[in-house]
Amino acid sequence: MVVLLIFGLFIARSVCHTITFLDVPRWADPRIEAELRCHYAKQPLDPPLHSVKWYRGTHEIFRYTPQEYETRAFNSSGVSVTNSSCDTFACVITIKPEPGTAKYTCEVSSEGPRFAVDRKSANMTLGVLPEYEPLITGLPTFVNAGEQALVNCTSDYSLPAATIDWFVDSEPQEDPVITGETHVSGADGDGLRASWRTLHVYPDDYSTHRGFLALQCRATLPTRPPHVRSMAVRLYVASRPHISSYMLSKNNAVGKNNAIRLQNDLCLWTLLLLGRKLVPCLVK
Ligand SMILES: *[C@@H]1O[C@H](CO)[C@@H](O)[C@H](O)[C@H]1NC(C)=O
Ligand SMILES: *[C@@H]1O[C@H](CO)[C@@H](O)[C@H](O)[C@H]1NC(C)=O
Ligand SMILES: *[C@@H]1O[C@H](CO)[C@@H](O)[C@H](O)[C@H]1NC(C)=O
Ligand SMILES: *[C@@H]1O[C@H](CO)[C@@H](O)[C@H](O)[C@H]1NC(C)=O
Repeated sequence: MVVLLIFGLFIARSVCHTITFLDVPRWADPRIEAELRCHYAKQPLDPPLHSVKWYRGTHEIFRYTPQEYETRAFNSSGVSVTNSSCDTFACVITIKPEPGTAKYTCEVSSEGPRFAVDRKSANMTLGVLPEYEPLITGLPTFVNAGEQALVNCTSDYSLPAATIDWFVDSEPQEDPVITGETHVSGADGDGLRASWRTLHVYPDDYSTHRGFLALQCRATLPTRPPHVRSMAVRLYVASRPHISSYMLSKNNAVGKNNAIRLQNDLCLWTLLLLGRKLVPCLVK
């Protein structure tokens, strides 16, 4: 029994190239071509590589046959293979992704007599990028030290939904007291979803020497490479609320007094000038 098992293992391991790594982006960025990567290995007793095939669904879209030094792209399913680079260890193709989800399969076969194959599949979905920058709402004109502000960041409808991260003065905010989870809306007719995340800012927790906190919201789609958009605003912090509002009204009062005094002075000067203009006439 054991002998049979070992013999079986030996057979299984020695007749076929095995796929060691299949890399298909889960979400494709619609603006760029996607790179699909298939790595395979040969055991010492395996026959040579016969062919590497790529499928989209059940349609073959690409074939590499090393014995014939040949690569072929098939257009039948509408997918265009735009580039390829294949050898006896790896086969990489770039494709222009199609809308929707498709299953991509890499299939490796070894030379006869058995022409044994190994295959692996992964799904890829074409992402839909958000149309707008993330939007920060609820920002107060300023916040007093000792108080807190609650702001909201919303990312536009996208596929998949964006994840949102908050930064205060470039520091990522992860404390659940400060920033909650990313909330995701229901899907619209096209399956797109919006997302939002709030930020509680306690100005006392930061060193606010400049008089403001730099708030940044970043929305990320897990395409490859990730699609990142962000929005930054300033939250002004009044350092000592009572003094500053007192100073504000006092300054206003001073300003008013000055204005009245200036007006009086102007009247006086006008009279004086008028007087001096009139005097020579009188003298004449
Ligand atoms: C495949 O499609 C591309 C563009 O879509 C075209 O340039 C090429 O000639 C087609 N190849 C075949 C074999 O039909
Ligand atoms: C095709 O791939 C090769 C090797 O990866 C690369 O050098 C070349 O620039 C690519 N060509 C295009 C048109 O992308
Ligand atoms: C691909 O998606 C289909 C349909 O959603 C699912 O049944 C299948 O398990 C997925 N395959 C992989 C490899 O994730
Ligand atoms: C944040 O914005 C989203 C969408 O704009 C809204 O549904 C949600 O109620 C807002 N949350 C808060 C706490 O203001």
